[in-house]
Amino acid sequence: MSKTLRPAEPAVLSAPLAAPNQPKAEAAPPYYERHIFFCLNQRKGNEECCAQQHAEAGFDRCKSQVKAAGLSGPGQVRVNKAGCMDRCAAGPVAVVYPEGVWYTYVDASDIDEIVESHLKNGQIVTRLLIPAYLGR
Ligand code: FES
Repeated sequence: MSKTLRPAEPAVLSAPLAAPNQPKAEAAPPYYERHIFFCLNQRKGNEECCAQQHAEAGFDRCKSQVKAAGLSGPGQVRVNKAGCMDRCAAGPVAVVYPEGVWYTYVDASDIDEIVESHLKNGQIVTRLLIPAYLGR
């Protein structure tokens, strides 16, 4: 004997999501003004990855410079580790949100410039931008 499957019943709301005459809730201010994520991905063997290109040193430098500048913490800047972000061809890479600006870097002075210019003053460091076409 076969059983006939029926489509699921649509969900029924038992109460409105918001009272009709109440003001809409406003979004809370962001917990951090900016986030910078560093890809620290390590691939097996000799496959190209950010970890091969001293990404950990870039991350450490950024973290210490942000802290030294007094930029670290709620309402300010958060420096985070990330896995592969599929932009390996431009590695090592870091991305700053909320702007969604992608950087590459070579040394500590590049990191210092990103911290001072972008994370502190909101100015994009154009010389370190990744070309839009570079992906994995
Ligand atoms: S390994 Fe870093 S973006 Fe892919």
